[in-house]
Amino acid sequence: MTLLRWRDSLSLNVPIIDADHKRLFELLNRVRFLDLAGDEPQAIADALSELLLYTQTHFRREEKLMELGGYPGLAQHRRYHRFFTEKVAEVMARFRANPHGFRVHDFYELLANWLTDHVLGEDMKIRPYVAHLEEAQVAA
Ligand SMILES: [Fe+2]
Repeated sequence: MTLLRWRDSLSLNVPIIDADHKRLFELLNRVRFLDLAGDEPQAIADALSELLLYTQTHFRREEKLMELGGYPGLAQHRRYHRFFTEKVAEVMARFRANPHGFRVHDFYELLANWLTDHVLGEDMKIRPYVAHLEEAQVAA
């Protein structure tokens, strides 16, 4: 199990989305790193909170672009996003409830694989609908 590493094939060439995806990779890697290093539970909980918050911010942004671009698969895509958000929230809640008995890194692979598969399989499909939008050009 290695850390998530950004590669060009993950890029949609949509600046605002690519910037968000890179940030999500960083945040997820940070959670795993802190957890494996056996860092303070509070530091791990904070990193998980940040990951959850950024996940929500990013998904809202991506869904807004899909709306603007008239992406026909929006409803299904929203469901995928909800699944991942709930997974991250669940990992966070379980960790907070039992910081010494719950290993975040056991879930790292699931989250990392989901994110990579989602970018390659689902986010790539929205590219033709959103790439031209003015709102998609500037990384926030
Ligand atoms: Fe997405």
